[in-house]
Amino acid sequence: MAEHHHKEQKPISYEKCNKPIISSSSSCSFTALIVLLIFLSYFLYSFSFMSFLNPYSPSKITNSFLVPVIRLGSGQKPVEETELKHIVFGIAASSDLWRRRKEYVKIWWKPNGEMKGAVWLDKPVKGNASSPSSALPEIKISSDTSSFKYRYRNGHRSAIRITRIVSETVRMLNGTESERNVRWLVMGDDDTVFFSENLVRVLRKYDHKQFYYIGAPSESHLQNLHQFSYGMAYGGGGFAISYPLAKALEKVQDRCIERYPDLYGSDDRVHACMTEIGVPLTREVGFHQFDVYGSLLGLLSVHPQAPIVSIHHLDVVTPIFPKTDRVKAVKRLMIAAKLDSASLVQQSICYDTTRQWTVSVSWGYTVHITRTYMPARMMEVPTRTFNDWHKRHDFTNIAFNTRPITYTACQRPRVFYMSHAINDSSSDTTISVHLRHNEWNPKCDWGIADPSSINRIIVYKKPNPDRWNKAPRRDCCRVMPTTMKGTMVVNVTACANDEIVAYSDK
Ligand SMILES: *[C@@H]1O[C@H](CO)[C@@H](O)[C@H](O)[C@H]1NC(C)=O
Ligand SMILES: *[C@@H]1O[C@H](CO)[C@@H](O)[C@H](O)[C@H]1NC(C)=O
Ligand SMILES: *[C@@H]1O[C@H](CO)[C@@H](O)[C@H](O)[C@H]1NC(C)=O
Ligand SMILES: *[C@@H]1O[C@H](CO)[C@@H](O)[C@H](O)[C@H]1NC(C)=O
Repeated sequence: MAEHHHKEQKPISYEKCNKPIISSSSSCSFTALIVLLIFLSYFLYSFSFMSFLNPYSPSKITNSFLVPVIRLGSGQKPVEETELKHIVFGIAASSDLWRRRKEYVKIWWKPNGEMKGAVWLDKPVKGNASSPSSALPEIKISSDTSSFKYRYRNGHRSAIRITRIVSETVRMLNGTESERNVRWLVMGDDDTVFFSENLVRVLRKYDHKQFYYIGAPSESHLQNLHQFSYGMAYGGGGFAISYPLAKALEKVQDRCIERYPDLYGSDDRVHACMTEIGVPLTREVGFHQFDVYGSLLGLLSVHPQAPIVSIHHLDVVTPIFPKTDRVKAVKRLMIAAKLDSASLVQQSICYDTTRQWTVSVSWGYTVHITRTYMPARMMEVPTRTFNDWHKRHDFTNIAFNTRPITYTACQRPRVFYMSHAINDSSSDTTISVHLRHNEWNPKCDWGIADPSSINRIIVYKKPNPDRWNKAPRRDCCRVMPTTMKGTMVVNVTACANDEIVAYSDK
């Protein structure tokens, strides 16, 4: 941490000297001296806080307890880090779709008490066997909501039933043995798939004893602007409510709902009540509502540098891997998630300088090869493989930067989807194999080798479960020499301190 500050502080003092605000060179060096002194004392101060100089430093306490803790500042007792067992899920589902949708829940649900929570249905379904050992959560039937007003034209009044899952879950837990352990309620839909280890990584950053409402808005600017809000956690992407806040919401939720009969959904009713309590949305970009149509290829190949927590609308988009069904496709992504969840769909960019190609890896998902050297600032922008929620193909309606799939036929990327991945236990390295997706192959007269000469890409990467405990940084990749025909070998690692993505030093 101290080292990190050091690096950021130094250039600032130099830069100031170059600016005309400081008149003479002597005052400049004086300023530099002052800055150095301030910095040094700050350095010593923070160092003393963090290490052996201070016998009561939080790190000392950590060591003596030999359990992971959250550091809550001096004077407070260390707290066990948040784990899966501290989370209770509330899954919104309906009896008519449950038969099919439960396949999505099975993909991520961990049975035998490893995960806690329930699926909430409007009415009982046949063949609902949900014993503790079954692959699915317990099924609960929501209580009657027919007395609540619902006035949104052409909307679904099930929104009221679903929004009340928060308070029904609090009442379900009230007074039970497991309530003591509950730190977070996490809401999701039956077509939401959670990456639970990453969910835990995100929630760990926050003090569960305080009021937190964590999630993300929609990809669709118009949805956020008109129908809903940038301050709302979209229910399909899933959201987390700290347990004290969930209890506070439970107290007021029914009366609150009555004040908003004109709203459309369940998540906007939660949002409305949160605004009454005064708790803002804490935005975490790993929650994905995915209000888009078409292919998620562009979005999942360039994920923000944050752990991926959820994906949603899997029935709306095409299967995330081609030539397979939706459920099998997500299961394949889960193979990678099991090997190195923290790095799932994290990007790395490198150049094959013998062939003038740009290589972009989305770990556990795809590799793209593009002719010519494309700068990192372009490669980290998602391509428009998807359509916007209003089916206008209007990318001013997307609430972040996107770029066309290609600008010229020659630069159309070749896409290699992961086919399988294993853990090589002798070297503790993951090996994922990617196969080329055959699609439209444009003619190109650039005299640059055709990436279609590659059929298979082998990606090596050591798991990096601690990466999000550090400042975010993209991984680096290297194209390795190989004699295997039609094969490319890529090694993905954490970048060295001075490593950059550039095709020339000029
Ligand atoms: C589960 O199924 C049984 C019989 O098939 C039914 O009696 C029961 O009400 C159902 N429970 C739920 C929660 O759907
Ligand atoms: C929890 O249970 C206690 C004791 O039965 C009851 O007094 C209280 O109202 C309950 N609270 C909630 C939120 O259900
Ligand atoms: C990979 O294998 C090594 C050695 O057996 C083991 O320590 C590690 O936990 C494994 N990793 C995963 C993700 O299975
Ligand atoms: C990948 O690079 C790392 C760091 O340079 C190295 O330790 C590792 O052996 C490489 N892996 C392979 C499979 O070449």
